[in-house]
Amino acid sequence: MKGMNLSVRLGGLSLKNPVITASGTFGCGREYSEYIDLNSLGAIVTKGISLRPMEGNPPPRICETPCGMLNAIGLQNAGLDAFLRDELPFLKGLDTKVIVNILGRSIDEYVELAERLASAGVDAIELNVSCPNVKKGGMVFGKSTRLLSDLIKRVKRRVPLPLITKLSPDVGDIGRFAKVAEDSGTDIISLINTIPGMSVDIRQRRPRLANITGGLSGPAIKPIALRMVWECYNTVDIPIIGMGGIVSAEDAIEFILAGASAVAVGTGNFINPRATMDVLEGIRSFMEDEGIRDINQLIGGLRCKGG
Ligand SMILES: Cc1cc2nc3c(=O)[nH]c(=O)nc-3n(C[C@H](O)[C@H](O)[C@H](O)COP(=O)(O)O)c2cc1C
Repeated sequence: MKGMNLSVRLGGLSLKNPVITASGTFGCGREYSEYIDLNSLGAIVTKGISLRPMEGNPPPRICETPCGMLNAIGLQNAGLDAFLRDELPFLKGLDTKVIVNILGRSIDEYVELAERLASAGVDAIELNVSCPNVKKGGMVFGKSTRLLSDLIKRVKRRVPLPLITKLSPDVGDIGRFAKVAEDSGTDIISLINTIPGMSVDIRQRRPRLANITGGLSGPAIKPIALRMVWECYNTVDIPIIGMGGIVSAEDAIEFILAGASAVAVGTGNFINPRATMDVLEGIRSFMEDEGIRDINQLIGGLRCKGG
């Protein structure tokens, strides 16, 4: 179809299309460059970056379950200095938006990370306040509305970039946390992070992960993620990045209809390294079949109650 529009605006962040990568499942992009044209992505969201290098948790850190994957990587990364030196120049050479996912142990650390990344020219910051696999930081902020609010306000005051807050699904009322994030000044929310879970080897009588528990991701969590995106869409007015179990264009379109302005592919990248491109091409074909010229017509377009 001629003149089809796939571009979306998430507040101050414009993407050429709504398909992006989920943090921690795409490294910093380079690893996937032999499978896909990275320039075709709406954005690359990097793995979680901390101020100082983090070793992560001891192995085994990943295990498969019948319908999803459990991980307890524990945010292994080489730290901010290494990211700025070794990864950012490559990312900035691409024709796509660069979103850096950050994790701090204190508000000061988040602020320092965000300030230094803003000076280095990244396009947006995603606050990871929802990692279930680290003892300090992250989740502590995602589970307390007071801490979450303080964190967002402090980062927003100091950093002029679009700010994405990644919400934890491990809270009672996700809509309440979304509203607190919006009221505190976040520009965008993203959800969901992994859902805490565990798996047991019955012969060994041992947990399959050294960390005992880990985060469940992949198709198993899609219905939960979709429900949460829908609840947030009905609660806040800021744009939403939806994720959780997206492996196909149909999955992505479900999230868009439920209210997501952009969609992130995570575990799907491990199953099929071209998953993001398949999702993008599938969205295009769906729009052609349905005679839809502008992707924005689909966002939040769910028909309920016979509407
Ligand atoms: C191996 C692995 C590492 C992850 N690392 C991060 C991370 O560093 N920061 C973050 O915010 N989310 C991280 N996540 C969560 C994903 O970005 C995503 O929110 C979650 O996996 C749900 O999407 P999916 O079902 O498509 O994978 C990670 C997920 C996996 C599977």
